[in-house]
Amino acid sequence: MRHLLTLEDLDRTTITRLLDRAEHYRHDGAPRGLLSGRTVLTLFFEPSTRTRTSFVLAAKRLGADNVNFDLSHSSTVKGESLLDTLHTLEAMQLDALVVRHNENGMPKYLADHANTGVAIVNAGDGTHAHPTQGLLDALTIRQRRPDFENLRVTICGDIRHSRVARSDAQALHTLGVRDIRLCAPRAMLPETLHELPGCATSEDFDTALEGADVVVMLRIQKERMADAQLPDATDYHAHYGLDARRLARAAKDCQVLHPGPINRGIEIAPEVADGPQSRILDQVANGVVTRMAVLAELLTQPA
Ligand code: NCD
Repeated sequence: MRHLLTLEDLDRTTITRLLDRAEHYRHDGAPRGLLSGRTVLTLFFEPSTRTRTSFVLAAKRLGADNVNFDLSHSSTVKGESLLDTLHTLEAMQLDALVVRHNENGMPKYLADHANTGVAIVNAGDGTHAHPTQGLLDALTIRQRRPDFENLRVTICGDIRHSRVARSDAQALHTLGVRDIRLCAPRAMLPETLHELPGCATSEDFDTALEGADVVVMLRIQKERMADAQLPDATDYHAHYGLDARRLARAAKDCQVLHPGPINRGIEIAPEVADGPQSRILDQVANGVVTRMAVLAELLTQPA
């Protein structure tokens, strides 16, 4: 593995190795100074709370130097191209560049132009992929249910615009999940299932929840939709909001995930977000160790 751009091309052995490493870090911590002397730079062109902070913490906990590229004070606002920015940063002895961008494929473009020795990590590109979220969600699920082949997983919300849905589905499919149900109103269902292996779609949330062992709730990605496409919040909650009454349709021990940020009262009711079946804060904790595992994997393998 030289870069991490998508989960599409990772096999089960590689994903399992990353999850095992993350789990190991969660219990025993990382070897001291594993990445000491290495430099990890985070470059975010879209807002982020969890992903950015957890990459920064991951780099620090591995002993790497971390630079948070502040876009509002950088030359990109003066019109410097992304490639010029990349080459400028490379000249400062960069080892890994963690990038989030609103355009699909931008991390791949950077990877195609990066010097050998610089690893590009995709922290979310447009609607395309969010590989570390896919990994951390798989880790979270595995902590309670390692028997992926028996799981029924429902992913509900704005699937069409969700890079999380794509990366979750790819990770879970590769790990052996056979029943993945994507649920949304028609306008939020994906136009093609091409990047969503092993998935079936439905517009009826009550049916899609029947017997589910895991439910992943997603935010409506307003920033990727025209105002006219936005559903009424009350109406949306009535049909696609997860509350305690609805959750009762799922399996008794169904785990509830959400990548955040959550919109309470729209896609998820507070009683569920804060309830005993919620894994939302476990996802956050797993995010740090998963990103540590990814950085360690990319920066310590033999050249
Ligand atoms: C997600 C993202 O940015 O794709 N959030 C995250 O990384 N935790 C989902 C979202 O923004 O709704």
